[in-house]
Amino acid sequence: MKYFSTYLVSSRFLPLIVAPATRGQQPEHGDPDAPLPGHFHQLLRWDTKTFPSQPRDIISLACPCSAPESPLVLEPYDFLFDTGVEAYYNGDWLSVILNMEKALKNKATVRKVKAQCRLSCANQTAFGDHVDGVGVPIPGAGSLEDLGFFQKILKRADCVNSCEMEKLGHPTMHQVTEEIQLEFNKRSPYNYLQVAYFKINKLDKAVAAANTFFQANPDHMEMRQNLEYYRMMAGVQEEDFKDLEARTHMAEFLLGKRYYSDDSFGLAAEHFEVAIDEFFTADKECKALCEGAYNYDGYNYMEYSADLFQTITDHYMQVLNCKQHCAVELALNTGKDKAFEDFLPSHFNYLQFSYYNSEKYEQAIECTKTFLLFHPNDEVMNQNLAYYSAVLGEDKAQTISAREVVKQYIHQSMLEKKLLYFGYEAFGITFVDPDTWTPEDVMPNKLREKQKAEKETAARITEEIGNLMKEIETLVEEKKKDSSDMTKIIATPESVPLLHDGIKVTMTAKLLNGSQRVLLDGVITEDECRELQHLSNAAAQKGDGYRGKLSPHSAGEMFQGVTVLKAVKLGQEGKVPLKSARLFFDLSEKVKKMLESYFGLDTPLYFAYTHLVCRSAIEEKQEDREDLSHPVHVDNCLLISEMNECIKEPPAYTHRDYSAILYLNNDFEGGDFIFTELDAKTVTAEVRPQCGRMVGFGAGKENPHGVRAVTKGQRCAVALWFTLDPAHEEKVWIISVDRGQDYKGIM
Ligand SMILES: *[C@@H]1O[C@H](CO)[C@@H](O)[C@H](O)[C@H]1NC(C)=O
Ligand SMILES: *[C@@H]1O[C@H](CO)[C@@H](O)[C@H](O)[C@H]1NC(C)=O
Repeated sequence: MKYFSTYLVSSRFLPLIVAPATRGQQPEHGDPDAPLPGHFHQLLRWDTKTFPSQPRDIISLACPCSAPESPLVLEPYDFLFDTGVEAYYNGDWLSVILNMEKALKNKATVRKVKAQCRLSCANQTAFGDHVDGVGVPIPGAGSLEDLGFFQKILKRADCVNSCEMEKLGHPTMHQVTEEIQLEFNKRSPYNYLQVAYFKINKLDKAVAAANTFFQANPDHMEMRQNLEYYRMMAGVQEEDFKDLEARTHMAEFLLGKRYYSDDSFGLAAEHFEVAIDEFFTADKECKALCEGAYNYDGYNYMEYSADLFQTITDHYMQVLNCKQHCAVELALNTGKDKAFEDFLPSHFNYLQFSYYNSEKYEQAIECTKTFLLFHPNDEVMNQNLAYYSAVLGEDKAQTISAREVVKQYIHQSMLEKKLLYFGYEAFGITFVDPDTWTPEDVMPNKLREKQKAEKETAARITEEIGNLMKEIETLVEEKKKDSSDMTKIIATPESVPLLHDGIKVTMTAKLLNGSQRVLLDGVITEDECRELQHLSNAAAQKGDGYRGKLSPHSAGEMFQGVTVLKAVKLGQEGKVPLKSARLFFDLSEKVKKMLESYFGLDTPLYFAYTHLVCRSAIEEKQEDREDLSHPVHVDNCLLISEMNECIKEPPAYTHRDYSAILYLNNDFEGGDFIFTELDAKTVTAEVRPQCGRMVGFGAGKENPHGVRAVTKGQRCAVALWFTLDPAHEEKVWIISVDRGQDYKGIM
């Protein structure tokens, strides 16, 4: 009975007290109707609040039910993760590394132990032999044999339970919330590790962590940028760009494919063979892990009233469904949405051709025959088989058979499918076959017809919904057009009184899908645009230190910049036309006045920094470019896009209050300005640069922004940052204005 006493309070049932609250009928913790007192949950969770006096790294679980003999040795990975995150915000990099590494290690251990326990217990408590005290072989018919059957089941459960208990401690310890699961699925720990390793100068580890994170988050702009930086750094090797979470079977498959496309067939075959071995190992593990808790999936387990065999059926169908899904799970490449189609069979397709090219006809025949197990009518493969057999000799070819391990795999998979289809027909438990190779007759006739009808209905509904959506879109667009015309007409003249002649408000914050944003056109003339672009190029050539250098943000671009102070100095030295320097200076004043007036400020703005910047695409470095010209950031805080947060602390320029970018040209490709959400990914508005156009915006977290890659030509703009705090005024303005000198005097 020991087993049941532990089972009652074991993991499997506890989370349900909280989890399916969606149904609205779950009692709260401590509710007298709850099947278990609320504190059980806390007691069994790794909750330091429950054990305030206990040191965090020594756990001895005070379980009131059945004291486990072995002390717990494995710290729960969600706790380690939280500790790591906390350390990150305290800048305690060593602690970040310690906790995150341990969290990853422990999570992997939990997974491994669970799989191993289930596999070895399956072996130890096999059916088919005589069972103690029953005296008859199992399985058999009759109540005595039933007893024997369930004796096996109980032994198996006891075996798995003690195995896990011994190695992991109480199972509830390693249960984590969905959020934590998501963090690990997104490989977030590697994001923290990347920073921590970088901070303590362990570049190789930082690179590996960054790369590992990026594999699972290929749209993550900042990490892409980081990786570009790392690539340019001295001391970073190509081998450092590892994927620490790569699954062996997939890595080998991809390597095999790479050699295959390079026509290195010998090496390709070697890697595909390893990939197949690893696939079957991973498949066993994946299937063992399916034998977990029943997922009520939104149903109220308290209303669940299935009898013994219904309950077993429900759970077992779920397990089988999960096992079938392993075919997809294993075919998924990290960071990709779609699994490789026909994954396992394709190995044998690659292999047969690789062996043929290496003149290994016996192996080639073996692999064709193995492939044909999946797709017996494949024309090309049958032709290949005929050809290889002719080359090798028909008699010899006859003796070669398909691989046993694959025969077994298919046999088991077909049995699973048949059971699942039976469950589908008899109990309506849905099953969608993930494989493309399943013979048609595995699915029962009645189901096939039903599914056909359902598919047609689904297609019809999809079409109807599509039409409806189109109608709605058209309606919304018409509405929007009306209202945007209105805002232009109403908002422009009254709310923007102080604008200079010829300047017009092209888009208000509303049209730019945000707040504290404005787009103006006609801020300067074509001639002025050209003059400033020349100024930038002249300064880059003549002024030391301003020669075009590799962009700090992108390896695909050259970058040159000149500040107002530098322009004025170069002007005084006769290296650039004084008139152009003056234009730069005057224009900055004009922009300042416009911002003050447009945003209705009642205290003046001060220049914080002004920069004339040109970025030029490097022609030979544009292939497959996916980075940004300037990564998404916020001007006055540190954007932490993973957390949708922006921290207003140094080294961010926290004193910046308003920003403006004035464009000088549009004869280049790419280089559009974007506003995004705090996630640095979701673009909310896009602005195409052109001469005289200016985007002005608040420098705070309401306005994350960046610049898309410039892929051809040169893009020039004046970037201006303003502060409300006179203490942070840019030096040139203090020199030229505040000392009582008329700035015209300087020039
Ligand atoms: C199953 O048990 C037998 C005998 O105890 C052992 O030889 C075999 O390696 C085991 N297989 C697995 C998969 O553990
Ligand atoms: C604002 O959002 C709408 C809807 O997503 C989009 O069509 C429009 O282009 C956005 N505005 C700008 C300036 O990008």
